Order: sequence, then C-alpha cells, then structure tokens
Amino acid sequence: MFDNIAHRYDFLNHFLSVGIDHSWRKKAVRQLRELAPSKILDMATGTGDLAIALQKAFPDAEVDGIDLSPGMIAVGNEKLQRKKLLNITLKVGDAEDLDIPSNTYDGVTVGFGVRNFENLQVGLRELHRVLRPKGRLVVLEFSQPRGFLFRPLFMFYFKNILPLYGKFVSKDPKAYTYLFESVQRFPAYEDFMNELQSAGFNARYYKQLTFGVCCLYVADK
Ligand SMILES: C[S@@+](CC[C@H](N)C(=O)[O-])C[C@H]1O[C@@H](n2cnc3c(N)ncnc32)[C@H](O)[C@@H]1O
Repeated sequence: MFDNIAHRYDFLNHFLSVGIDHSWRKKAVRQLRELAPSKILDMATGTGDLAIALQKAFPDAEVDGIDLSPGMIAVGNEKLQRKKLLNITLKVGDAEDLDIPSNTYDGVTVGFGVRNFENLQVGLRELHRVLRPKGRLVVLEFSQPRGFLFRPLFMFYFKNILPLYGKFVSKDPKAYTYLFESVQRFPAYEDFMNELQSAGFNARYYKQLTFGVCCLYVADK
C-alpha cells in the first residue's frame, strides 16, 4: 500500500495535516536533545522527513532511516539528493527483523509507523535490542482525541472527509480508509505505555499533541 501512495505521500501528509506534521516531528526530535546523540535510527522512515529533521537538529550525528517500502525509500532518496543531504542513509528493512547489531543507536524514532507493524511486540523488542543501554525511543502516532467537543468533530473529518481527499489525490481507494481503521485499532495512550513496558522499555511519559490527534511517547532502555 505504501509503495502505491509513495509518489503523493509528502503532499498528502502536509496537506491533510495542514502542515502541523512539521511541528509534531520537531517536538519528537527535541526529546533526544539531552542525549546529544551521535547515532540515530529513524524506523519506518517513509520518505525520510523525520530523518531530515533529526539531521538538522544534530548535524554531527549519523542518521539512518529504514522502511519496509522500497517505493517510499526511493522517493526519500530522491529528496535527499535534491536537498544535497547525503549524510543520511535510507534503506529498505523490516522493523521486526533487523540486520543490525544490538546496542547500536543512542536514539530511535518512529513517526506514524508502529501502528503498521504486523506484530507490535516483535517490532518494539527489535527497537529495544538495537538501542544502547540508556538510549531513548521516541514514537509519534495518531490517536483518537479525548475532548468531548473536539473528538466528534475530528472523528467525522477523519472518517468521512479525509478518506475522500486521500482517495482523490493518491488514487488508492483503500489507503486512507485503512488509516482511519488502523487508528481505531491502535492501543494508544496508557495502553501503548504498557506495550512499551512489556517490550522491555522504561516507558517515561506521553504527551498529547493538537488536542490528542497525535501522541508523542518517550521510553528509555
Ligand atoms: C505513515 S508512514 C510514516 C512515514 C514517516 N515516518 C513519516 O513520518 O511521514 C508509515 C511507514 O511505515 C512503514 N512500515 C510499516 N511496517 C513496517 C515495518 N515492519 N518495518 C519498517 N517500516 C514499516 C511503511 O512502509 C510506511 O512507509
């Protein structure tokens, strides 16, 4: 599915979130500042926007981006070439089976990716394994807003309007219906903190962003 929508993914991302996705990524990057990381992995990097934000914030760090979809990685690599950001490495790989030695990274980020893992626990345990002791995992993921006024308005947009735009622009009839359904299924907030604990992390805190449309999770190894 991500191969199908790769060519329109960046446009749709920024358009449908009215550009707010940039500020969500910046907040995620800030959670790594106190570690002064020198080696960072952006898992499920897609077209690499979070990897680029990491590289800008930590110019001396080595940033690797990994994604399951060759189409997304190809679009990401074109973007890196265009922007001359050649010190970021993007490659194809599976979060649930990484060909990377244990204790490699100071920080790992995942932007809107964990929801798509086939087996959430297997993926989280792999991320835990490749983090060095005291390293940090930062996850951004969509959530269902909790506010009693905002929630029904947003859910109406999310269920009925967003899939129409998404279908029109991406030409993929299912991608944005899948987005709605996968967010419904995802164990958000405290439930995701429990998933992190079960995978071996010390789940530190979570923050709701934009009234809970998105949630930022921080966990240490
Ligand atoms: C919604 S996109 C997010 C892309 C990017 N992180 C961003 O913030 O825009 C989700 C990405 O997760 C990737 N993905 C899903 N399952 C994965 C897995 N097991 N391993 C690596 N990437 C995966 C998909 O290929 C897709 O590119």
